[in-house]
Amino acid sequence: MTEKKGIKIVTIGGGSSYTPELIEGFIKRYDTLPVHELWLVDIPEGEEKLNIVGSLAKRMVKEAGIPMKIHLTLNRQEALKDADFVTTQFRVGLLKARAIDERIPLKHGVIGQETNGPGGLFKGLRTIPVILDIVKDMETYCPDAWLINFTNPAGMVTEAIYRHSNWNKVVGLCNVPVGMRMGVAKALDVKPDRVEVDFAGLNHMVYGLNIYLDGENVTKMVIEKMTSGDTSMTMKNISDLGWEPGFLKALNMLPCPYHRYYYKTDEMLAEELKNAEEKGTRAEVVQKLETELFELYKDVELRKKPEQLEKRGGAYYSDAACNLIDSIHNDRGDVQPVNTLNKGAIASIADDSAVEVSCIITKSGPKPIAVGDLPVSVRGLVQQIKSFERVAAEAAVTGDYDKALLAMTINPLVPSDTLAKIILDEMMEAHKEHLPQFI
Ligand code: G6P
Repeated sequence: MTEKKGIKIVTIGGGSSYTPELIEGFIKRYDTLPVHELWLVDIPEGEEKLNIVGSLAKRMVKEAGIPMKIHLTLNRQEALKDADFVTTQFRVGLLKARAIDERIPLKHGVIGQETNGPGGLFKGLRTIPVILDIVKDMETYCPDAWLINFTNPAGMVTEAIYRHSNWNKVVGLCNVPVGMRMGVAKALDVKPDRVEVDFAGLNHMVYGLNIYLDGENVTKMVIEKMTSGDTSMTMKNISDLGWEPGFLKALNMLPCPYHRYYYKTDEMLAEELKNAEEKGTRAEVVQKLETELFELYKDVELRKKPEQLEKRGGAYYSDAACNLIDSIHNDRGDVQPVNTLNKGAIASIADDSAVEVSCIITKSGPKPIAVGDLPVSVRGLVQQIKSFERVAAEAAVTGDYDKALLAMTINPLVPSDTLAKIILDEMMEAHKEHLPQFI
């Protein structure tokens, strides 16, 4: 294939096991998205993984006959120079830190989860200072680039970039809405491109307000299917506990898989405690999956993304990332669910807050599609989570212990200030090497 005038993409956290998803997405779209330079960036502790994933990426690109040059580096500043797009997909403290985020709350009878409750708070406290450092480098080395952030908690991270930096060319991304749309298509037994969903809410707190099949509103039919047990619609990383039919009918919207932590807290906690006892927490299960994946990635005969990657919750994430980059690069004007500035799209959320909504994607970025307001039934929870995100982001940036305690206490999954302090202190101690702002 002849080389075209291409674009430069930098992926920070390039040693991630998800990277083959991204490479597959760029290969698939090379005609409309000619990536001529891809820099995979990691930190010294991730160098071995970077080399393994990077070698597979090079084999995949060679096999596809795509003239994409792949660079592997630990030098972020060198990589960022003149980038067109920067994607971020890193995990501070790696899965070991996530396992702590899950285990400590569980010990105190509180949901232990990657992006929700105390786990979500500490993922944010570890991640936000690092992402703001990356933004500072981008201001120097690639001031015109787009930052496409996948790093969790993606909603809180996007909020932190808007509120605590001057960077506004950022889009927060997640595969949950993509997964919800695929789930609806599966439930209706139709191709996904016939299904449209009006998304509105926050990351991992997003609702499908209206569902359309070939332009016709089929929301009630889909909910009927979900309540009759035809499908529960979840992802690999979340138990598919069924919904109360009467609840879902009255909600009259599509909840996302993560809503189970809020609307089925007791059952999900019981499930988590049982799993932690019998097979390990999600992070501990994923650590085993990661080991298997990296053994596979080492095989020099492997030249494509192994389907074992589908066992991760992040399935379809590359589609979300590559579709977004493709639509910005080509000014497509198509509709995609992303995290961006609210600007009035959801009436009861501040205009300058980050929300996850259906947007029209253009070369000047996402244009949120206004939904009016969220129904009264869900408005309060979404506002409470947004309050939590904003206070957590302030704590992350300031290193203010009391702000961190406030964020922990106002989180809807934490039942009391006394318990909030106990969990906070234990997690601060367990994560102190990754929380320099609190020392
Ligand atoms: C979903 C969420 C991601 C999350 C992932 C966890 O894809 O959208 O934000 O990181 O699940 O999957 P895992 O396989 O690591 O539990």
